[in-house]
Amino acid sequence: MKNSLSQKQAARRILVIIIFCLVGLFVVYSYVSDFLPSAGASPQKKTYSLPAPTPLAGQGVPSALNMGMSAGVPINSLQAPQTAVHVRQFALTAQPARLDLGAGISTAAWTFNGTAPGPTLHVKQGDLLAVTLVNHLSFGVTIHWHGVSVANLADGVAGVTQDAVKPNQSYTYRFIAKDPGTYWYHSHQFSDVETNGGLYGMLIVDPALSTYHADVDYSVALHEWGGDNGQTTLVMNTSAGTLNQAARPGQWVRLRVVETSNTASGAPHLLTLVGAPFQVVALDGHDLHGPQWLRETSLPIGTAQRYDLLFRMPNHNPVALVTTEDNDPHHYLHVPALVFGQGAVPATLPVVSPHWFDLTAYGQPTQDVITPQSHFDAAYSITLNNQQGTSLGRMGMAFTLNGKVFPDTAMIMLKEGQLVTFHFDNQSGLYHPMHLHGHIFTVLAHNGQPLTGSPVHLDTVLVPPHDSYDVAFYANNPGIWMLHCHNFLHANRGMDMMVMYDVTTPYTVGSTSGNFPD
Ligand code: C2O
Ligand code: CU
Repeated sequence: MKNSLSQKQAARRILVIIIFCLVGLFVVYSYVSDFLPSAGASPQKKTYSLPAPTPLAGQGVPSALNMGMSAGVPINSLQAPQTAVHVRQFALTAQPARLDLGAGISTAAWTFNGTAPGPTLHVKQGDLLAVTLVNHLSFGVTIHWHGVSVANLADGVAGVTQDAVKPNQSYTYRFIAKDPGTYWYHSHQFSDVETNGGLYGMLIVDPALSTYHADVDYSVALHEWGGDNGQTTLVMNTSAGTLNQAARPGQWVRLRVVETSNTASGAPHLLTLVGAPFQVVALDGHDLHGPQWLRETSLPIGTAQRYDLLFRMPNHNPVALVTTEDNDPHHYLHVPALVFGQGAVPATLPVVSPHWFDLTAYGQPTQDVITPQSHFDAAYSITLNNQQGTSLGRMGMAFTLNGKVFPDTAMIMLKEGQLVTFHFDNQSGLYHPMHLHGHIFTVLAHNGQPLTGSPVHLDTVLVPPHDSYDVAFYANNPGIWMLHCHNFLHANRGMDMMVMYDVTTPYTVGSTSGNFPD
C-alpha cells in the first residue's frame, strides 16, 4: 500500500517535470524562432497592391486619332489564313489573382489564367495559332505577340489593329508561327501598367528541323514587381526565392530567359550561369552562328529581350542562374535564383565583370541575307532623348524620338519590298531597348563598327547611353506597326512612332475609344 502510494507520487512528480520542460521549451522556441532563418516564411511580410490603369482625358489627350492612311489596303484584310494543316487552339483568360512570391511577399496581379507569367504556349514552326482572349478584368486588355512576324490584324495593339477587349468580351488572335524561337506575349493596352501588372507569358516555337539537342528545356521570365513605396521585388517566374529544376549529369540544358519588366533606372539586369560553361545559342529567338563557350560572363538583358543558353550538366555540382539588382549592378544576388540539379546556389558568387557579353563580337561570321554592303532603298535616323515636357497632357519627363513625343512623332512610310535601315542615335544618358513590331532587325553596326562575329537578328535592340546602332530589315509585312522603346515608362511618356505601309484602319487611339497602347 505504502509502496504503491509513493510510486503514484513519483509518477505525478515526473509528469509535472515533463509539463514544465515542455512549457519551457515552447517559451524559449517562440522567443528564438523570430531570429531563426526558416525555409518557408521570412520575418518580413510584404503585400503589394496594384493601381488599375486610368483612362486619359482632358487637354492634350487626343479624342480619336486614326493611325492609318486615308487610302490603301484595309487592315482587316491583313490576316492569317482561316485554316492550316496544324492548328493549335489556346484560351487565355485575363483575370485578377494574388500571387505568393515566396519570402513572405505577395502581390496583387492581373494574370492570364491565374498566374504570371501566364501559360507558356509551346508550338511547332508552321502551326496556325488560334488564341482566344477572354477578359474578366474591369478594364480593356489586348495581347501582342512580341517578336512574332504576325499578319498585322493579329498584332494586338489597342487603337491600331483592334479595340482593346472590354470587360466580359473576348477576341481571337490567329497567326502562323513562321519562325522558330523564344518569344513572349503581353498586353498592349496601357502596356506600362498592364504588363508590369502581370499580363504576360512566353511563346516557344520549336523549329521544324531542330538545330540544337536539349534534354531539358526550361524558360524563365525575369520580372520586377512594384511596391507601393518604390520598393520592388525581383522574381524568376513566380519566385523571389530559389527555383529548382531537375537535370542529371551529362544532360544538355536549354535555358530561355526573357526580361518582362524594366528596372527603375532602366539599366539592364545582368545575368550569368555559375557551375558550368555555356553558350549563347540564340538572341531574341534567332540562332547565332558558331557560338563560343563562355564562363561566368555577364549578359545584359534589356526589357523584352531574350537569351537562349545551352550548357551541359556537370557531374558533381549544380548550375545556377543568378542576376544583379538595379541598385547594385556589381554583385549577383543569391535570390532569386534558378538551380539545375542537386544542391544550392554557391555561397560565394563571381564578381560582375565590367566586360559584358558583346553581341557584336560573338560567334563566327557567316553569310547573311542583309549585310552592310547591301543596297538600301531607304534610311532613317532616329534620335533618342528625354527632357522635361508634356506627353498626352501630363507634365513631367518626356521621352522623345527625333525631338517629339507620341502622338506628335513623325511616321515612317514604307513600300513593300524595300530594304530599310534605321540609325538609332541615343543622345540621352539612359538605356533604350528599341522594338519594331512585325519585322526582324539585322544588326549592321554598333557605334559605326560592323559586327565581327555571328550575324545577329533582333526584334529589340538595346541602345546604351550615348551609343548608336545601325539595323536593317526587309519591308515584307504590310500593316501599321509600332516602333517604340520597350522601357514601359519611356513608351508611356512619348517614345513611340508608327511605321506604315499604305494601310487603313477603322480603329482610333484616344479618349473616345479608350484605346491607349502604352
Ligand atoms: Cu513587346 Cu510594342 O511590344
Ligand atoms: Cu527608352
